[in-house]
Amino acid sequence: MTRKPSPHPSTQPPGLLACLHTKRGYWVTLTQMRAATGLSQHALDKQIAHLQSAGYVIECHPRLGYALMEVPDRLLPDEVQRGLNTRLIGREVITFERTSSTMDVAWRLAQSGAREGTVVFAEAQTQGRGRMGRAWLCPEHSGILMSVILRPHIRVEHVSLLTLTAAIAAAEAIQKTTSVVTHIKWPNDLVLKDKKLGGVLVEARPLGRRWPVFVLGIGLNVNLGATDMPGDIRRLATSLQIAAGRRQDRIEIARALISSLEAWYGLLRDGKVEHIADAWRERAPLLGQRLLVEKDGTQYRGTILDFSPTDGLVLRLEGGAIKVLRGEQVVVSQENG
Ligand code: BTN
Repeated sequence: MTRKPSPHPSTQPPGLLACLHTKRGYWVTLTQMRAATGLSQHALDKQIAHLQSAGYVIECHPRLGYALMEVPDRLLPDEVQRGLNTRLIGREVITFERTSSTMDVAWRLAQSGAREGTVVFAEAQTQGRGRMGRAWLCPEHSGILMSVILRPHIRVEHVSLLTLTAAIAAAEAIQKTTSVVTHIKWPNDLVLKDKKLGGVLVEARPLGRRWPVFVLGIGLNVNLGATDMPGDIRRLATSLQIAAGRRQDRIEIARALISSLEAWYGLLRDGKVEHIADAWRERAPLLGQRLLVEKDGTQYRGTILDFSPTDGLVLRLEGGAIKVLRGEQVVVSQENG
């Protein structure tokens, strides 16, 4: 029998956690706790036990009160949303311990009218998917597996920039929180020294009457060690833990990712597409290199000269002619030999 995956229960009431967080590592007296939450002693004890069973390490002392010592390494809504000041993305966050794919969950939510900016996280996926029908694999509790519902009212020719926008936001969030500088391989791969660290998947469906709905999926390899990846994958992929030499705070990265996404998505919605092109140029390692580019079954050899937000990738072919390749269905690879 299969059980329907259910999201992590909310750790309400919010006052309780907020109160513990304001003095993290220190005692909060029972009187302070009861004043902040309005809970009776019995209800307080129940809530504390509930938090402890969710992985929070909370010390309890009959005279001194409670002290929050550790937060679980889980992308719990309460933790990701703490201190987040976005207006659109991440106002609703739902986290699953395990689900088929956060894309599936987000589509179900979108269909039932979930608000724009709703974020779905999973600690593990059984059918994670990437672009071009590929699978997305990540051991549980070690990555950021996230989908966001978007209902952008933007010009049709800017829609294909959603992928790039999300990749830029992810690269920015990673750099801010871990100091690791990633490159963007057209159009959706986050790479570090030619190895894949993360990817973006954008799906669209005509759910709205006028505007299509998009679900944006982001997968990042965070706390995977070299042994967490099979040998063939290890040659092609990497993680922030491997790059930085130590485990990283997934909650902090997820929060930064939501903030960056809100900022870059705002630029896209405002039509400021040159900012997006500039950000890509700064992170485009293949700019100016000889490459093999494939689109719709045709291969082109040449050099990527630039990216035009409205036209696409600008390529100088080997014979000197200029070719502009529109859209995202472009595969770029380094030429061997
Ligand atoms: C790619 O590089 O091909 C895109 C990978 C996108 C993976 C993420 S993980 C969260 C979300 N759920 C999925 O099933 N896929 C995306």
